[in-house]
Amino acid sequence: MKITCIGAGYVGGPTMAMIAYKCPDIQVVVVDINAARIAAWNSEELPIYEPGLFEIVKAARGRNLFFSTDTQKHVAEGDIIFVSVNTPTKTRGVGAGKAADLTYWEGAARLIASVSTTSKIVVEKSTVPVKTAEAIEKVLRRNCADPNVAFEILSNPEFLAEGTAMEDLAKPDRVLIGGKETESGQRAIGVLKSVYEHWIPTERILCANLWSAELSKLTANAFLAQRISSINSISALCEATGADVQQVAHSIGTDSRIGPKFLNASVGFGGSCFQKDILNLVYICETVGLKTVADYWNSVVQINDYQKQRFVERMIDAMFNTISGKKIAVLGFAFKKDTGDTRETPAIDVCKGLMADNALINIYDPKVTEAQIHNDLSLGKFMWDHPTTAGTKSPRQNSVSVFKDAYEACKDSHALAVLTEWDEFKRLNYQKIYDSMMKPAFVFDGRNILDHAHLRSMGFIVYALGKPLDPFLQRNYS
Ligand code: NAD
Ligand code: UDX
Repeated sequence: MKITCIGAGYVGGPTMAMIAYKCPDIQVVVVDINAARIAAWNSEELPIYEPGLFEIVKAARGRNLFFSTDTQKHVAEGDIIFVSVNTPTKTRGVGAGKAADLTYWEGAARLIASVSTTSKIVVEKSTVPVKTAEAIEKVLRRNCADPNVAFEILSNPEFLAEGTAMEDLAKPDRVLIGGKETESGQRAIGVLKSVYEHWIPTERILCANLWSAELSKLTANAFLAQRISSINSISALCEATGADVQQVAHSIGTDSRIGPKFLNASVGFGGSCFQKDILNLVYICETVGLKTVADYWNSVVQINDYQKQRFVERMIDAMFNTISGKKIAVLGFAFKKDTGDTRETPAIDVCKGLMADNALINIYDPKVTEAQIHNDLSLGKFMWDHPTTAGTKSPRQNSVSVFKDAYEACKDSHALAVLTEWDEFKRLNYQKIYDSMMKPAFVFDGRNILDHAHLRSMGFIVYALGKPLDPFLQRNYS
């Protein structure tokens, strides 16, 4: 059996590496139109940082795992074609700012149709709107010259989270496979199931109809993001009342019906999926006339925007309503720890908010490159995933400096803000940092990872999300 995956990104690369690693009897080829990305997958410097990924790639690469730009050849030869291309939010036209842009998906489908001379199982790995399989089937059918070639479409959404992708792939809570309720549909489900059964217990492989599988992915992300917005909304109330959001989260999380996970208040959720997928869900609800349902889910994104804005306003207010010309150290730019991914990271909106008030930003992140940071801060909303139209605004490079060291970033700054929960930030010598900063020296902990009492004992004025406010800050708010 040969598997070909179109799209060598954060999902295609790790997912196929795990399949190849666990299934030595299957040949796996990952193809992409981005030649630089494929070259990186074939090198010692993989294009994405993910703990444990390199070891798995090393073990399978050249054995039964290959990365190639020859999309036509490998798609033509594949028995199962995974499609793992990006499905960003539309930036223009009908549904702009909400609907999924399926340009890349449709391009992949047209490619499959044009080169296929044998029947194939086409697997939706990308996150797509419900009913996409119906549209894709039409594209495949109408563009394939050979009437004897059959396409069976399956939905097999990916639930991995970045930073823990390899663990999630090795031991997933579940694998979901959706297919048609026809005989050939069920047969195709069986084939894909047999791939996963190489390492995943059968009872963890859930089968569903196509539309349920497609909708389950959007729903899972919407529910996860909703938990974060819910606790973030409570963090604002905690600050207003003197309650402590971590104590509240712990108290409610011990109720087994609520559970303890995904209750960390933060400066806002980021990542390429949550916002995009909720907006997509909102758009689908609107198009079928469910405006109240659409408004409900949209509020999850609104609270997230509110949280980022609130954080910036807290910083500006605390620093006497003037941050113009003041250096602010930003520790962490990735959207979460253990990844170099910055897509939709809250750090972008926070930095832009501070830059709008003329602050000078000193950024340090252990895994994000300087070029990436400047690029991110130069792009408009939703533009990051549209390579052909990206980079339309000029970067404000003068007000942003990127450092290779947290101490250097903090030197001579008026404040430091923790925007990513990297473990190394917990271990920094904060006395050394305090001594090098302007006074009063502020800490704004957007992830609640620091020892606030210890910082206060050194002389820092500390703002921690959803925690009782420092008397100093309270005065500014009264
Ligand atoms: P990505 O941007 O990292 O990778 C997509 C790749 O597809 C790019 O390298 C691009 O060059 C390539 N591509 C686009 N069109 C192509 C074509 N016609 N032929 C060959 N290659 C093509 O995106 P990603 O983060 O891997 O996400 C892919 C999909 O998986 C999205 O739908 C996303 O919503 C979903 N998803 C992502 C995550 C995540 O954590 N990133 C998790 C679950 C699901
Ligand atoms: C998410 C889903 O978890 C995953 O199942 C799906 O396949 C892709 O989208 P990912 O975006 O990679 O994964 O990371 P996740 O761990 O979900 O974190 C998303 C954002 O929420 C991050 O910015 C993170 O810092 C934030 N977050 C998470 C919180 O603010 N609080 C929490 O309690 C958990």
